[in-house]
Amino acid sequence: MTWLITGGAGYIGAHVVRAMLDAGEEAVVYDDLSTGIAERVPEGVPLEIGSTLDGERLARVIGDRGVTGVVHLAAKKQVGESVELPLHYYRENVEGLRTLLSAVTDAGVASFVFSSSAAVYGMPDVALVTEDTPCLPMSPYGETKLVGEWLVRATGRATGLSTASLRYFNVAGAATPELADTGVFNLVPMVFEKLSENAPPRVFGADYPTPDGTCVRDYIHVVDLAEAHVATARRLRETPGTDLTLNIGRGDGVSVREMIDRVNALTGHTLPPVVVDRRPGDPARVVASADRIATELGWRARYGVEDMITSAWAGWTKRR
Ligand code: WQD
Repeated sequence: MTWLITGGAGYIGAHVVRAMLDAGEEAVVYDDLSTGIAERVPEGVPLEIGSTLDGERLARVIGDRGVTGVVHLAAKKQVGESVELPLHYYRENVEGLRTLLSAVTDAGVASFVFSSSAAVYGMPDVALVTEDTPCLPMSPYGETKLVGEWLVRATGRATGLSTASLRYFNVAGAATPELADTGVFNLVPMVFEKLSENAPPRVFGADYPTPDGTCVRDYIHVVDLAEAHVATARRLRETPGTDLTLNIGRGDGVSVREMIDRVNALTGHTLPPVVVDRRPGDPARVVASADRIATELGWRARYGVEDMITSAWAGWTKRR
């Protein structure tokens, strides 16, 4: 069985490749290197440089490499940018997926794992978000992920392709410093950046209806997330006709203030954070119910916030 991992040179994708190899699976990476980094692809794993909008190339790679399953992570993922560039996001994330699914079904590939996001839920009004909580995305990014889930499921029903959509909550950490996230778009790297400048970390709003007034999220270690992909991929292979939608989180809410305090403590910094204006569009609380994936696949997260912060910090300090 050979897994084609689109976006396998990206932060999360490279962790999925690593987890697949550790589990004894074969992997081929397909990535346009727009944000991916070729050096993240381990030796011995073929890297095919191409766009998911290029159906001919996808068909050739799938045929030549004997691809029998796909894990599709290649996508644009910045919420704010998606508000500015909705056409670009729909083209890359929806048309790219449609093109890939067309090549996948033409070639008779058996299994398809789709990288989705908690962004499909928008502003959920529940303590724990289950997979049945209504999806009301608040950004074009979240919309493209929800439409993507529909497209994946409809294709599975029509063709017998085994499918799963994995809704990632807030991903952090790294398996090794080399695989760390290079983007500075999420809380943990944004705090690191401020600390590196000897500036106070920023809290975007402290007047939310939460225990300490700051937003609460469900942070998940990228190594745990990658292992969830392996468990999912194996289920799809073993059980043709599978159709899964799964949250990938820990079910544990951590506030922005708690995260910043932990970062300070673990990295030896003392600057207290400053409270600035709310960032538009941020929900007060988004925490997963992680029950369904535990029941379905026996998967649960192994790592906590401390491992996420220390491993991410090791990557941050190494590249600076
Ligand atoms: C977390 C919390 C900020 C920086 C987004 C997407 C989601 C997924 C992950 C993609 C928020 C606060 C942040 C800072 C702060 N994306 N914050 N100070 O917004 O929960 O999720 O990224 O694949 O779909 O929506 O993540 O890390 O940006 O923010 O106070 O310097 O930290 O306001 O409450 P978010 P985040």
